[in-house]
Amino acid sequence: MTRTHLVVNGSAVEVDAPGLRSLADVLRTDLGLTAAKLACGRGECGACTVLVDGLPRTSCTTPAALVRGEVWTSEGLAGENADLRARFADTGAFQCGFCTPGQVVHATALLREGLHALPPDERRERVRTALSGNVCRCTGYQAIVESVCGIAEERGA
Ligand code: FES
Ligand code: FES
Repeated sequence: MTRTHLVVNGSAVEVDAPGLRSLADVLRTDLGLTAAKLACGRGECGACTVLVDGLPRTSCTTPAALVRGEVWTSEGLAGENADLRARFADTGAFQCGFCTPGQVVHATALLREGLHALPPDERRERVRTALSGNVCRCTGYQAIVESVCGIAEERGA
């Protein structure tokens, strides 16, 4: 047993994380936090995105034993981003259950940056560029970008 101490969604947990066992595997298998999806499994799609110390990280390529900061998953961020998820649902930005959780987690971090202070074109570009790593072949991203930008404006108001 290789015990690793993590703080996940505000709670201290101890898990068995030998070698390069991924954070995604620990979250999903040991902790039952399945919102972060394992899709590509090699850091290319963003479906497994979580926040570590507030920054988006692909949990499939993050060895759990090396994590030092607090981990927040989509489950733990549900209160903070309820407005964003509602906007996704209302505007058709919601894609499938694989890509959307990662997009929402990443956008939650973006919304902490004070996007509302940026001019609209810069804000859109910032969001579009940031979310380009959360891959979905099924969308043009327009509704997603507009949803995030709209929430940024509302929160800044
Ligand atoms: S499953 Fe982690 S980046 Fe694709
Ligand atoms: S990958 Fe989720 S809808 Fe395209």
